[in-house]
Amino acid sequence: MSAQIIDGKAIAAQLRQDIRGRVEARLANGLRAPGLAVILVGENPASQVYVGSKRKGCEECGILSLSHDLPAETTQQALLALIDELNADPTVDGILVQLPLPAHIEVETVIERIHPDKDVDGFHPYNIGRLTLQMPTLRPCTPRGSMTLLQSTGVELKGLDAVIVGASNIVGRPMALELLMAGCTVTVCHSKTRDLQQKLAQADLVVAAVGRPEMIKGEWLKTGAIVIDVGINRLESGKLVGDVEFASASQVAGWITPVPGGVGPMTVATLLQNTVDAAERHDHA
Ligand code: GUN
Repeated sequence: MSAQIIDGKAIAAQLRQDIRGRVEARLANGLRAPGLAVILVGENPASQVYVGSKRKGCEECGILSLSHDLPAETTQQALLALIDELNADPTVDGILVQLPLPAHIEVETVIERIHPDKDVDGFHPYNIGRLTLQMPTLRPCTPRGSMTLLQSTGVELKGLDAVIVGASNIVGRPMALELLMAGCTVTVCHSKTRDLQQKLAQADLVVAAVGRPEMIKGEWLKTGAIVIDVGINRLESGKLVGDVEFASASQVAGWITPVPGGVGPMTVATLLQNTVDAAERHDHA
């Protein structure tokens, strides 16, 4: 058996086109373009790449991207002051602080300082709380983008046994809330999980978000499973691979996302979607 590929690159391109249409409709109605402030502290090379693609995506969709590249030595106080300023700026609909932050800055404090209405990453406790209570507003980008990919398959998610590998605040936990809301029975596995293979063998749907190259083997999967691979790992050879061993997994799975070209482009497109959602909500506030 050979899995059907979930083409994240194409689905993200379609989503960006929809977003561009919504931005154009705003402009035609005399409203301003949505504004996204992107804050990068320090010079983490991976973060620089991610931030670059977020800014490029903004440009493609007509969203105003406001760049704040700060030196690694920036104090927490200075970063909080910048967030306060952006919170008060009516031309800014979304504020994104790229993670990870330098060790001297407390990530929780920074996230909580962003006004929940401008928290386009969906990381603020208010937004996570709303997602938990099935009344989502701004939803974390990677899980929301993964849900868009799942919806594109047309497979009914209600009642599926879903296993998430990885329990991070950014992906694993909010993904569990998304899948629970979609009617799945959700198991979240993590580094202390006793028998991962036994859990995966039962899974109709697997979300891999551990950051370990090709850790999950095709033989561990249930035949026909849907596999969403969130991992983006660069091997020493320079090759990009996911957390799932694609060659073996695609022989067993029913549906699978490739790396690159799966979840990655959806994370960026969903950030743009959240920014336009926030702008439209601000119009009506
Ligand atoms: N670092 C890795 N993923 C993300 C993300 O989704 N948002 C932000 N702000 N930083 C990240």
